Amino acid sequence: MSDLTKFFNRWGLPWKRGTWTALKSARLQLRFLLPLVITLIAAAYVSVPLLDQVTLRWFSRDLNSRGVLVANALSDSVADAMFNDRAYRLIPIFDRAAQDERLFALGLCDPDGRLLQRTGRFPDDLGCAEALRLAQQVDPRLSLAGGPVHVGVHRVMGHRPSPSSGEEGASEPVLLSDPEPVPSLQLPPVDELVGNLVLLHDMSFIERRSQETSRYLIGLITVLGLVIALITIVVAQLSWRGWVNGARAIMRGEGLLSPLLPAPELAPFAADLRARLRDLEDEYRRAQGPEAEWTADRLRTLLRTQLVGDQVIVVSNREPYIHERTADGIVVKRPASGLVTAVEPVMRACSGTWVAHGSGSADRDVVDASDRVRVPPGSDDYWLRRIWMTAEEEQGYYYGFANEGMWPLCHVAHVRPVFRESDWEAYRAINQRFADAVIAEARGDDPVVLVQDYHFALLPAMIREKLPQATILTFWHIPWPNPESFGICPWRREILQGMLGSTILGFHTRFHCKNFIETVDRYLEARIEHEHSTIAYQEKETLVESYPISIEWPSDAEVAAWAPVAACRQTVIERLGLPADVCLAVGVDRFDYTKGILERLNAVERLLEKWPSWIGRFVFVQVAAPTRTALDEYRSFQERIERVTLRINERFGRSGYQPVHLLAQHHEHDAVMELFRAADICVVTSLHDGMNLVCKEFVAARDDLRGVLVLSRFAGASRELAEALIVNPYHVEETADALHRAALMPLAEQRERMSSLRSTVREFNVFRWAGRMLADAGRWRLRARIEARVRRHQTG
Ligand code: F6P
Repeated sequence: MSDLTKFFNRWGLPWKRGTWTALKSARLQLRFLLPLVITLIAAAYVSVPLLDQVTLRWFSRDLNSRGVLVANALSDSVADAMFNDRAYRLIPIFDRAAQDERLFALGLCDPDGRLLQRTGRFPDDLGCAEALRLAQQVDPRLSLAGGPVHVGVHRVMGHRPSPSSGEEGASEPVLLSDPEPVPSLQLPPVDELVGNLVLLHDMSFIERRSQETSRYLIGLITVLGLVIALITIVVAQLSWRGWVNGARAIMRGEGLLSPLLPAPELAPFAADLRARLRDLEDEYRRAQGPEAEWTADRLRTLLRTQLVGDQVIVVSNREPYIHERTADGIVVKRPASGLVTAVEPVMRACSGTWVAHGSGSADRDVVDASDRVRVPPGSDDYWLRRIWMTAEEEQGYYYGFANEGMWPLCHVAHVRPVFRESDWEAYRAINQRFADAVIAEARGDDPVVLVQDYHFALLPAMIREKLPQATILTFWHIPWPNPESFGICPWRREILQGMLGSTILGFHTRFHCKNFIETVDRYLEARIEHEHSTIAYQEKETLVESYPISIEWPSDAEVAAWAPVAACRQTVIERLGLPADVCLAVGVDRFDYTKGILERLNAVERLLEKWPSWIGRFVFVQVAAPTRTALDEYRSFQERIERVTLRINERFGRSGYQPVHLLAQHHEHDAVMELFRAADICVVTSLHDGMNLVCKEFVAARDDLRGVLVLSRFAGASRELAEALIVNPYHVEETADALHRAALMPLAEQRERMSSLRSTVREFNVFRWAGRMLADAGRWRLRARIEARVRRHQTG
């Protein structure tokens, strides 16, 4: 409780929420008012005496003029009286003149300065010389007992009457009989000083007027002050409110686009304020994580609410757990597969059944009579239903059509697709086998089936044929090419028809969706609604939507189990015999020609060539898990990478220093995490990739906010991870420069970029990917149920 609140409470004064605000605003207004009041008082203090002086001068001038008038009016009488020695005659004239209320007294001095006549109130002690002295002053004032008087001395001029003229007013009589008068030779009369008229004007009225004027002036200043204060208070109050509202609007994020722009006075610091707010918001978001983060629990809730009671079946070629027979017995392995990385946490969250190829040497040993086994080992969250195939079938379906045909067809990575009739037949047969398994696993006629990837282009239509009510979500994990590239496939129509058996068809990016829709438009007679991104084909509608896939954000428990970054670095340095101050760049991929491994080696070579100072200090470690080694293309690619690695090491290697370490074996998840945490740079230079999860794993591993991601612009992930250093891997120079820049990047910049990358990956996690798809499926099913009910009402 503030002191002020206590004060109000103690005195029993009503203390409302607004009281404090009102007091604050009063304080603000006082800041304006105090200087105003002080200024007005000073103005009054200076102006009142000034005005006194000015009015006195005006009145004095006025009285002088009046004095001249009076003197002129009396001059003839005075002259006459003086020249005729009849000064006594002036008394009644003077007394009459002194009846004027402002004329206090009159006196007449002769030219020698003797006072000849005076009226009754003329002061006894005022002589002519003194009167003249006073009259010559700026302030000709004389203080008397009855109040001050203004002293004016005015010369009275006149001309003496000529000796012939006799008495004034008398004139020589003129005779009619007289001859023509002869012009007189007399000079004209000359004016001479007759005397000085001393006029004493009453000044009390001036004082009265001056006091009145001062009162008016003070009143005027007071009124003016009050009006100014009022205007100031109102303007200050309005401006203050305007500024407060403006600042609030800026803080709410309005004013950028909103028509209610904040006060223009705020413009100079509005940009700063917004920038600071954004910084704070970013920091807060990073610290808090996404508001409504997608988690396994949220996904489960979604399944319980929107797909309540619905069965979820996943279909993929690669199984999430492989049982292998070894000398030590059966061991369980996790495959190096982005698909498995993404789908497995979803399956753990929603249970259900996963149908996949049983490829492990001990897979058959652990399944039940229905070829099913509970996984993950130990927690048994869901069923894994294994599908068997012969080596020949695998050759045609998996190696042949899927990986020699569809894979290069969709990736457009300068490896020619190979299409064999026999492969196509095997592909069709295996797709049918998986479809049969799904149908067998379905408990009802409308399961939710999640079909994964390019191994199963025909599966959706096959399932739809038997289970028309099923909701089939097909996710295509690899890119979709443009219609021309896809057009070289001899079975393009069948593939498109098979895929359009899906209820929802998902790609990683809008770009791939667009390519697919254009391909259908080119090769099938279908109705496309671009606005809704739907394709109606043979009375069946498919929604084509982008769902960027991701990883499961590591849990707190998982993070806590990680070794510290320094320890990871030390372990990796010791294991590989690297220099202690090494700048460590890593790449983790399957040994696939689409991953751009050759291009990144070229970039490393160029880096060492262009900046020789890195020799001995820069090391690139490439983990490359062998994959599809049965295919020539993959074997020769691996050999080529090995040759290039050797060449670079021979060229730049020194005793105790090997610039490139090629680790061509599968690494378990923990080992990959350790490498990511030890690294300064992670390099992902795919020539074409649907999404690429390696870069997201790297970001998730760096809770220390260090490390730089160099990412290909041809990986779907580059659309989301804009804070990575984005490169064109075909441009060796550009990629080498990016490595150089990454190696020299200041820690603060690394922090900034990594924080942002982490909040993106954390928010756009795999549960969001699955959640969005399943939510769309839920809506779709609801719509289908409503339509079915409407039809029943219509027919009933
Ligand atoms: O990129 C698509 C994808 O299905 C990945 O999920 C996976 O890593 C790869 O292709 C397939 O690998 P494999 O042929 O070894 O299953």
